[in-house]
Amino acid sequence: MAKDPTIPGTPVPHQPITGTDRLTTAGGVPLRDTDHSLKAGQRGPTLLQDHHLREKITHFDHERIPERVVHARGAAAHGVFTAYGTAETVTSATFLKKDKETPVFVRFSTVLGSRGSADTVRDTRGFATKFYTDEGTFDLVGNNIPVFFIQDGIKFPDIVHAAKPHPDREIPQAQSAHDTFWDFVSLHTEAQHHTMWNMSDRGIPRSFRTMEGFGVHTFRLIDDNGEASLVKFHWKPKLGVHALVWEEAQMLGGFDPDFHRRDLADAIEAGAFPEWELGVQIFPDTPQQTFQGIDLLDPTKIVPEELAPVQPIGKMVLNRNPTNYFAETEQVAFHVGHLVPGIDVTDDALMQARLFSYVDTQLTRLGGPNFEQIPINRTHAPVNDMLRDGLHQSEIHSGIAPYHPNSLDGGCPFVPDGSPDARAFIDHPVKITDAEKTREQAASFDDHFSQVRQFWLSMTPVEKEHIVAAYSFELSKCTLPQVRERQVQHLANIDPELASRVATALGFTAPQPTIELADLEPSPALSMVGQTWPLDGRTIGLVIGPETSVEAIAGVRNTLMGRSVTPLLIAPDGAPLADGTPVDRTLQTARSVEFDAILVADGASSLAGDPMLSLLIGESYRHAKAIGAWGDGVEVLATTAAAPSSTGVTAAEQADGVVEDLLTLMGSHRVWERLVPNALG
Ligand code: HEM
Repeated sequence: MAKDPTIPGTPVPHQPITGTDRLTTAGGVPLRDTDHSLKAGQRGPTLLQDHHLREKITHFDHERIPERVVHARGAAAHGVFTAYGTAETVTSATFLKKDKETPVFVRFSTVLGSRGSADTVRDTRGFATKFYTDEGTFDLVGNNIPVFFIQDGIKFPDIVHAAKPHPDREIPQAQSAHDTFWDFVSLHTEAQHHTMWNMSDRGIPRSFRTMEGFGVHTFRLIDDNGEASLVKFHWKPKLGVHALVWEEAQMLGGFDPDFHRRDLADAIEAGAFPEWELGVQIFPDTPQQTFQGIDLLDPTKIVPEELAPVQPIGKMVLNRNPTNYFAETEQVAFHVGHLVPGIDVTDDALMQARLFSYVDTQLTRLGGPNFEQIPINRTHAPVNDMLRDGLHQSEIHSGIAPYHPNSLDGGCPFVPDGSPDARAFIDHPVKITDAEKTREQAASFDDHFSQVRQFWLSMTPVEKEHIVAAYSFELSKCTLPQVRERQVQHLANIDPELASRVATALGFTAPQPTIELADLEPSPALSMVGQTWPLDGRTIGLVIGPETSVEAIAGVRNTLMGRSVTPLLIAPDGAPLADGTPVDRTLQTARSVEFDAILVADGASSLAGDPMLSLLIGESYRHAKAIGAWGDGVEVLATTAAAPSSTGVTAAEQADGVVEDLLTLMGSHRVWERLVPNALG
């Protein structure tokens, strides 16, 4: 099939693996028939000698590999990272030198669900980036939330077992709204910070393109002179950080479980390339490894951006969709230990366990030790390792001395010297103070509540409203009263108002705090609302009627596409317009959750009162989306929840003004005031 660039999702045509368009066996023998098995007579039994049947079925029987134990559901894209050069003072990594371009592959994921689960569940999102640098592969394996549930990786199996579906019935899928999750996090208060982020709108992103990414741990950068700094990595999306509303997220689970992967692929195909800036917060590498009293080795803590600004060091643009999901997105193997000269790890006990875990799990998932040879995992740097043999070895190594030192292969591979020019990876010589072996951690890890309260206090009224609703929903799905009550006690220790509102929703009275509430300054950078952002790749549902002029539609479509916004035409039936423009949805097949805004055209007044149209507009209104109409389309709005004079509804005689108003409203992501009075505080 030819690829039609105007239709999103048209597949790339099949290409022969090697030079023939004839069907062959895996061994390259052309085949005459692949539709009938070899039988003893037309109606007889199948013969065991049918080697083609056996090859075809056997390969099919083994097509699946184990899904990832966590982050099983994901979507990915290729792109390029361009360094600003601003990191040259703190790291020798050559891919961070000014204007250096490095190919990247990024996989976004949910954590809890299986491969076939819905995209829009409330969960943390993975944000894993593979930089194919000239000096070897660097993986930044992060999340869209800057803190983690646990301070020590030894507890990772515990949090994951608690969060995954209950082992008896294997429910619920892909979500934390159940007893075992809340049992664990309420017994284990260091999880409260991450949990608060999950209950905020960060847990239900509008798109992968509108998520921040965080390296979470503190890393160590080493400059040309061998001097080290501690840093935290941040990805900042050009489009801002935006979320769904909870009802939308739930509806999408049914209407379009692939919402996020579709959005990513469609945006790239439409040329609205997703973009992020990579930035670092930089701290001196002191023996204490703290900054303004915050322990930098504690992954349940952030450093507020107001205390240490995020300094941009480069830009990433995702500009190419994978060609084959399995070969690329499924087989990609990230590893926290993929480091390049100039970047090193710290002693964060969570990170230390991750350094072991990724390769270990990939040995099973990818069937042996040679998965670095799979094309998507292959480094772009020259390789001369002494790793040999193993399942699925695809290199034909020469030489007889794969050991070091050797004389039989002339000493090759040689070990570079430690000089800066040799660009070898050198573990930074961190001083370990006089220490005893212990299973304890520092007292500075003990405060589990101050920053959770800081997060809550940094939210605007509308964001607080969503947090209250999220805790109420999740805890209402817990059947055990002691779990709910224990968690609400923690909420009281975060903020009494939060606890009281959640307790009221659950039908009991909130307890008093049992600790003194901390009084950290709010961090406005934590809030997601209150600014305006670009609209690239956003969608507008353009409702047209039998009397809508084809020229008017063409004009509005052109204006929107010129602003990188995708118009989707919604008509009473699916017949193309007189000028051949295809209709994207009918009133029967459109649902509000697909669109960021709704615009009703002149000539649609005869549709007023249509129940599906009223549902479309009513839901969009309830989800605080911008709504507009021009000409007699205004009469349609008058029969819906979105009366022309209501907040965030724009109406006029001519299309031009309405389109501009609508785009302005969309720039704030939603019409927040419609949800909560004084929404932004
Ligand atoms: C800051 C904490 C953590 C972050 C940000 C994080 C992030 C991620 C991400 C983004 C992925 C998906 C990678 C992909 O797209 O293929 C992933 C997978 C995984 N993570 Fe983590 N993770 C964290 C903690 C841990 C810990 C503590 C462990 C274990 C000790 C762990 C074990 C795993 C495993 C086993 C996978 C599956 C890897 C695979 O099958 O390829 N993670 N993690």
